[in-house]
Amino acid sequence: MDLFEAIKTRRSIRKYADKPVEDEKLEAVLEAVRLAPSWANMQCWRMVVVRDAKVKETLSDLSYVESYFSPKGYKANPSKKALAEAPMVIVLCAEPQQSGAIWGQNYYLVDAGIASENLMLAARAQGLGTVFVGVYDEVKVKGILNIPVNVRVVGLFPLGYPAAEPTTGPPRKPMQEICFHGMWGEQ
Ligand SMILES: Cc1cc2nc3c(=O)[nH]c(=O)nc-3n(C[C@H](O)[C@H](O)[C@H](O)COP(=O)(O)O)c2cc1C
Repeated sequence: MDLFEAIKTRRSIRKYADKPVEDEKLEAVLEAVRLAPSWANMQCWRMVVVRDAKVKETLSDLSYVESYFSPKGYKANPSKKALAEAPMVIVLCAEPQQSGAIWGQNYYLVDAGIASENLMLAARAQGLGTVFVGVYDEVKVKGILNIPVNVRVVGLFPLGYPAAEPTTGPPRKPMQEICFHGMWGEQ
């Protein structure tokens, strides 16, 4: 699939078909992360590929956010089921010490963000689906996967074949709102 086609048609996938992912396709997704650009080429990302059903179930249970405004005291994640149902979950981590921090910007998040988009587009280009799950109890996720203290979990990515071909997604802002020419505020 052409790159722009993949960019245009990628959607967050939250329902998966009961169909395994071929090893070559997984390898291509992981390779897309490996090849991403990064601060001083330090490649701060690390990944854990989770296939074990019980561990996926636990990740699913941990994908909540504490919420003062919710009567339950927490809000479940819209991708909660996806984490348990997809054939696998890629846990994308980063070592902040292996990236730059300057003028209040922590570039490990930028590095991992770029790698994340490579991951999602590589999935889409091969007919697979995924979704960036950024809300979860990080301390507990680290605990169950033996992730060292100096490593941050940046996102959980269920990976599998979409249950249905994605159609239109949530709308984007118009170009005039996000892009100026010459000076801020000028069109
Ligand atoms: C940093 C980040 C965190 C996100 N966290 C979640 C999440 O926790 N749960 C979820 O269902 N979707 C999550 N998303 C997916 C967004 O909701 C989704 O990308 C957005 O609504 C646009 O829809 P689209 O991906 O189909 O174009 C996240 C996306 C990003 C980039």
